Order: sequence, then C-alpha cells, then structure tokens
Amino acid sequence: MSFTKTVLITGASSGIGKETAYIFAENKYNLILVARRKDALEQIKSDIQNKFLVNVEVIDIDLARQNSAVELYDKVKEKKLKVDVLINNAGFGTKGNFSTIEPEKSESMLLLNVVTLTNLTKLFLTDMLKSNSGHIINIASTAAYQPIKTMAVYAATKAYILSFSEAVAVELKGSNVYMTAINPGPITTEFALAAGFPESKAFVNVPSSKDLAKFIYKSMLKKKVSAIHTFKNQFLMIASKFMTRTFAAKLAGKMMD
Ligand SMILES: NC(=O)c1ccc[n+]([C@@H]2O[C@H](COP(=O)([O-])OP(=O)(O)OC[C@H]3O[C@@H](n4cnc5c(N)ncnc54)[C@H](OP(=O)(O)O)[C@@H]3O)[C@@H](O)[C@H]2O)c1
Repeated sequence: MSFTKTVLITGASSGIGKETAYIFAENKYNLILVARRKDALEQIKSDIQNKFLVNVEVIDIDLARQNSAVELYDKVKEKKLKVDVLINNAGFGTKGNFSTIEPEKSESMLLLNVVTLTNLTKLFLTDMLKSNSGHIINIASTAAYQPIKTMAVYAATKAYILSFSEAVAVELKGSNVYMTAINPGPITTEFALAAGFPESKAFVNVPSSKDLAKFIYKSMLKKKVSAIHTFKNQFLMIASKFMTRTFAAKLAGKMMD
C-alpha cells in the first residue's frame, strides 16, 4: 500500500505552476500536471522524473471552456488517480481599458479564472470530503484586494477567488479538508507577456516563482486560509484599506503601467 500523496496542478507548463510542481516533487508528491502545451508538460515530466523518484502524469486540456472541469475530472478518474491536493493555478489577465478588450478574451478569462476553478473545486472537494482528507489551494492575487484600472476583469476574477476560497475554508472548519487562497504580487513568469504588457515596471526586481512556490507549500503545511506573499505586499494590502476604492483602482492601475 502506497502512502505517497498526489497533487494536481493546473497551469503547470510555466511560471508559478511549473515551479510548484518541482517543490511538491522534492517533497515526494506524485504529480498530475495540467495545461494546454503538451510538449512543455512532457519536458517538465521527464526532468522531474530524472531528478525525483515520483510518478508524473500529464493531461493537456484547454480549461477555458464550459465543461472542461468535468472533462479533466473524468480523465483523472480514467487514470484511477486520487487527488490529495488540488492547486487551481491556471489563469491569465489582460491589460487595457475594458472597452478595448475583445469580449471573447474576457469570457475566456472568466471561464478559466472563475468557472473552471469553481467547478474543479466542487468535483474534487466532494471526493475529499468523502475520505475526510485533502487540501485545495487557489491562486488568487494581490489584485483581489482592490479594483485595478486597465485590469478590470482580471482583478474582479481574483477578488472572486479570494472571497470564494475564504468562505469555503470557513465551511470546512471541523473537517480534515482545507482550502487556502494564495495572494502573490507581481512575479516573473510568462504572465505579463501573455497579458500584453511585458515592459511593465511592476515586474522589475520582483520575487521568483520558485520563491513563491516554496511559500505555497509552507502555507499549505500551516493550513492557512489566506496568505499574501511577501511582507511588502502584506503592508501594501493593509495600506489599500485606508484608501477609497476609486483611488486604489487608479493607483493600482498606475503601478501596473
Ligand atoms: N505572475 C504574476 O505576477 C502573478 C501574480 C499574482 C497571481 N498570479 C496568478 O498565478 C497564476 C499562474 O500564472 P503565472 O504567473 O505562472 O503565468 P504563466 O507563466 O503565464 O502561467 C499560466 C499557466 O496557465 C496555463 N493556462 C493558461 N490558459 C490556459 C487554458 N486555457 N487552459 C489550461 N491552462 C491554461 C498556462 O499553460 P498553457 O499556456 O500551456 O495552457 C500556464 O501553465 C495565474 O492564476 C495568475 O493569475 C500571477
């Protein structure tokens, strides 16, 4: 009988998800890596399997579609895998006034960042509650704490993730199932490039995704309900409570320029 746990990470082909995969592998977790880019996932799989004695499964799927959570869940079941830790990390943003963003882009963002995250949580949480063990980690953002001019939909999706996660975490009290919202500030990944503002000053001299991955792992061990990455960001999020929401939206937008 094996006591090795399994973590499923969405958005594991780059950035935060990829580094988090390495941290969990280092800690002897088997992995289910999920994203659209199969080649990138396969490369990470073979590198991790060379370095650590763990099993790695790869599932390539587009999660910005209405029924994708059920499709992913069914694929996991077909492989007869049990998920002990689910990390809802896949997500993207856009930069620009809402009126200039293509509606299809906003819809994909809502589907990926909100709908699929919620549906995956529901599916895997049901199993976790049956066995009374498990942990779900949702990657929100410091963007969750205030509106952001030029990132209106993205900040709103992250506010949803934080609020949703905190509420479910409270509902889970008394069980052996946990939920943690992780709130990173800017981190060097493909995020800014994908969002169309790679030259933003906000991503200069920021922590690495490896540093954040270690923070994610530690926050899980501490069973945190919500954790803001870095003291600087914790301070900024407290400071934002003393501003009007309108001022905070302008300031946060300026900081992302
Ligand atoms: N970087 C930051 O500054 C920062 C700060 C706070 C929060 N976050 C959050 O952290 C999470 C990870 O972002 P990151 O910074 O690591 O960015 P990233 O390097 O761009 O990674 C995003 C991941 O999501 C996957 N993904 C995107 N669209 C997908 C789709 N339709 N279906 C399945 N997978 C999809 C990507 O894989 P494929 O392209 O292969 O599908 C990739 O693995 C996001 O939720 C982001 O909002 C980032």
